[in-house]
Amino acid sequence: MTPDAPSILAELTSCLSQGGIESAAAEAATILSQALGTSRAALAFADVPAERAQQARTWARHRAESHEPLQYILGTAVSGRLDMAVGPGVFIPRPETELLIDWALRTMPAPVAGQDAASVVIDLCSGSGTIALEVAHAMPSAQVYAVEADSLALEWLRRNAATRAEAGDTPVTVCAADATDDALLPELSGRASAVLSNPPYVPSGADLPAEVADHEPGVALFAGPEGTDVIERLVPVAARLLADGGIFACEHDDSNGAAVTEILGRHGGFGRVNQHRDLAGRPRFVTAVRVRDFAENTRWNGADPLNHEQRREHGR
Ligand SMILES: C[S@@+](CC[C@H](N)C(=O)[O-])C[C@H]1O[C@@H](n2cnc3c(N)ncnc32)[C@H](O)[C@@H]1O
Repeated sequence: MTPDAPSILAELTSCLSQGGIESAAAEAATILSQALGTSRAALAFADVPAERAQQARTWARHRAESHEPLQYILGTAVSGRLDMAVGPGVFIPRPETELLIDWALRTMPAPVAGQDAASVVIDLCSGSGTIALEVAHAMPSAQVYAVEADSLALEWLRRNAATRAEAGDTPVTVCAADATDDALLPELSGRASAVLSNPPYVPSGADLPAEVADHEPGVALFAGPEGTDVIERLVPVAARLLADGGIFACEHDDSNGAAVTEILGRHGGFGRVNQHRDLAGRPRFVTAVRVRDFAENTRWNGADPLNHEQRREHGR
């Protein structure tokens, strides 16, 4: 007899909770919907062919025994409106980063007048490509660049970029490079409408959940004793790449909102530095606008130029 979805769900939930998985019922539903290629909402009415039930049991057992992230086991992670292929060697996109992407899409200034017909958007430390590919999906006219240094992450990034291009999105340009290199993408200097980044930002020695520490790549996580080493070196690169009025957004550790604001203020070439919180209310990303000439700047989506206090605050 073909097993029904509720009884398979109960079996998967029991297997996962016996293995110590906290959100066993939710993960069981994710596993079964992936095995059936259907949405979670449709599970209640789904038939479960025996070989699909077997696949779901195998995934659940693997998860219960290894505690490997479920996204690695299933080979996919939901990222905003897109599914990213992920596996060992690449950082799993997090919901917090969707807030940064949403902010960027709502705030994106027009392309540089007289130079570019399309907005140039650069994702530094791109990982699976979540930021770059979401922007390319939402803004078909943008020229999007995804910069990643790690060879394993690059394999996933190239795979996701190819999948999205096949699905009809404007192709992104993948750059195998160090995002903190002063000489990165020289042809784009002063042309970017947006530089966006979710870089490594965990303070070394921080106590991470075993599921993260034991499985996700250290190069994606850690950035020196304070967690700001990569951000510190990335800010001058972003400043060089951005056009006047271009926007910068950078995710950071929740302990580092003030530190990242200070890094941008110390650089001296940014205005409108703002902190943003995640859905749990923790400081999560900082945004700013590139200002090349504080006296002349009036261009930023038609908004007011920087005021006197902001200029004084940033020492210009
Ligand atoms: C926290 S992960 C974020 C990945 C992706 N942006 C996301 O939100 O899912 C940081 C990524 O930066 C990459 N990375 C670390 N240092 C880098 C550097 N100097 N230049 C380029 N990429 C770097 C890591 O390999 C990793 O893929």
